[in-house]
Amino acid sequence: MKTGEGAVQEIYFDRIAAARISCPNSLIPTAGQYLLAEAILERPFILPVPVFPAGSADGGFLAAFPFPTSWHPGTSLSLRGPLGNGFNLPAASRSVALVSFGDTAQRLAALIAPAIAQGAAVTMISAQPPTGLPNAVEIMPIESLPEALRWADYIALDMPREMVPSLPNLLPINGIVCTAQVLLTSPMPCGGRGDCGVCAVTVKRGYKLICKDGPVFDLKPFLQT
Ligand code: FES
Repeated sequence: MKTGEGAVQEIYFDRIAAARISCPNSLIPTAGQYLLAEAILERPFILPVPVFPAGSADGGFLAAFPFPTSWHPGTSLSLRGPLGNGFNLPAASRSVALVSFGDTAQRLAALIAPAIAQGAAVTMISAQPPTGLPNAVEIMPIESLPEALRWADYIALDMPREMVPSLPNLLPINGIVCTAQVLLTSPMPCGGRGDCGVCAVTVKRGYKLICKDGPVFDLKPFLQT
């Protein structure tokens, strides 16, 4: 984990990513990891926010929605990271399903290039798929999730913490025979630095902190009731 400075270079609307951020290579998060970022001119009045990658870019990375509306091209950022555990796409995977229940599918888009590079077919299942996806990516509605459980050999989900109690109903544990991981989102003001507990999620025996035990978790423990 490192600290450093970066900057918002471009902001996109209705695309596979929300912004392009420049930063040192050592700060670039992998898919599912995040940086804690704050605009330098806004410090110390606004809490840092987690910024997730949506893809790669020269000199930095493409960032996923959402981030503060006060950011604009040229905004200088103080960055800390990369933080947390990201996705672990199996090298042998050839049928990848990216399933978003959240406010954006952009966080999952960071898996598209690595999956295609290893020869996998990629399907994005989302109520709101981003535009600008590579032609090779198939887009399916959220209702097709049961079908995806039958053919996918790797499933990556993205959902808010508040949906965790509904997971056993959404995904029957007997239906998950492949590797499956879930990225949980919640406010993460301290990024594990202060153990504030704001990001806690209940598990079978106690709780986990999304900011440092996640934000990507193996899915199956959340399906056990
Ligand atoms: S954000 Fe403070 S413990 Fe996770």
